[in-house]
Amino acid sequence: MWRLYLLSAFLLVLFCAAPALSDECSECHKAREFKVTHKKLYDYNLDFEISVHGVAELDCTDCHGGQSGTKDLDKAHQGVLEPVRYDNIPATCGSCHEDQYEAFTGSHHYQLLEKDGSAPNCVTCHGSMDMDFIFASRVKNTCQFCHNLESGTLPEIPDQADFILSKINIIKGYKSYVQQYLGDEDLKRKLSMDFDNLTAKWHSFELDTVEEDTRELLGNYRKAKAQAMKDRKHEKD
Ligand code: HEC
Ligand code: HEC
Ligand code: HEC
Ligand code: HEC
Ligand code: HEC
Repeated sequence: MWRLYLLSAFLLVLFCAAPALSDECSECHKAREFKVTHKKLYDYNLDFEISVHGVAELDCTDCHGGQSGTKDLDKAHQGVLEPVRYDNIPATCGSCHEDQYEAFTGSHHYQLLEKDGSAPNCVTCHGSMDMDFIFASRVKNTCQFCHNLESGTLPEIPDQADFILSKINIIKGYKSYVQQYLGDEDLKRKLSMDFDNLTAKWHSFELDTVEEDTRELLGNYRKAKAQAMKDRKHEKD
């Protein structure tokens, strides 16, 4: 009898140990010996696993292309750096994030990026393998890299970006409360759509209109939160 238990335990382990990612790239890249022999690759892999994309179980090939399903290094690597070259990055990311891509390709930043790489691309702000949201605390530094007094390139930008993102963060707080407690489903859906439009529009870098929209949405979320608090109280009574 115990043999049967042992066998099923063994099978269970085998099953659970099956790779979460379906491609061979990460299987090879997470080799333990890389911690010593290819430290950068090893670290990248760790970063990726806990990134928004790792958690969403993207495959390496979703961004890098190359050949999955082979353990042959040269075959696997065909063309893997091309999609992540600085000026190809927006299109690579844009294949999934269409709204941000559309807003971004209409921006002055995008023209400069394509011309001579003098403006940021998606990973300048979001990180690459460690992709994440960008927070108010970080955005100022990111913009300041180019927009500062020394360069004289629109040095007022970092403060404005910081101001807008702090407001967006407050909206995010209200948003999760409203999603949970507001009874009015239509309003909830509308506000959520407005939020998505706002963060997509941010990528046009028309900061003045983005700032206006942010103020307006903040006001609307504040009202909705007040209503949600009432709804919640009703439910409790
Ligand atoms: C057999 C193991 C193996 C497989 C399979 C593999 N890689 Fe690699 N990869 C490596 C090693 C080792 C390096 C370090 C550079 C080198 O030796 O070529 C590397 C380097 C890279 C680099 C950096 C290239 C550079 O020149 O700096 C990228 C990007 C990459 N791999 C992506 C991928 C993707 C995407 C796949 C799957 C389509 C993949 N790899 C499959 C082992 C592998
Ligand atoms: C969401 C898109 C995306 C996914 C998915 C992704 N990468 Fe990357 N990766 C990038 C970008 C963008 C860069 C370039 C970063 C830069 O320019 O600093 C990069 C860079 C790299 C590099 C360094 C290349 C160099 O120039 O040295 C390696 C190695 C790498 N990726 C491996 C992988 C592996 C392995 C996977 C799967 C576990 C993976 N990537 C999944 C977007 C992605
Ligand atoms: C194959 C599709 C795909 C590609 C390519 C891709 N992403 Fe994503 N991205 C996702 C998914 C799926 C999520 C998880 C959240 C979601 O469903 O929106 C995500 C989440 C994000 C988030 C967090 C925001 C959120 O809604 O959770 C950022 C920021 C992001 N991606 C930026 C990028 C950047 C920059 C690139 C290019 C280097 C890129 N993505 C490439 C599919 C993709
Ligand atoms: C100059 C900096 C910058 C660049 C360049 C940039 N982003 Fe963003 N991105 C931001 C900021 C700031 C936000 C809003 C912050 C937030 O939502 O928390 C954001 C938000 C996002 C989100 C999440 C929206 C949400 O639901 O909150 C995605 C996805 C995204 N960007 C993808 C991209 C892609 C794809 C590119 C390239 C085409 C790109 N970003 C270029 C700064 C940037
Ligand atoms: C890699 C350099 C670089 C980074 C990083 C950068 N910018 Fe820029 N940005 C530029 C350049 C160059 C210009 C063009 C300035 C000019 O025309 O005089 C510009 C122009 C702008 C403009 C004016 C747009 C227009 O239509 O004329 C805005 C707004 C802007 N950036 C916002 C930001 C914000 C917000 C951040 C940070 C989240 C940021 N930038 C990060 C290089 C950068």
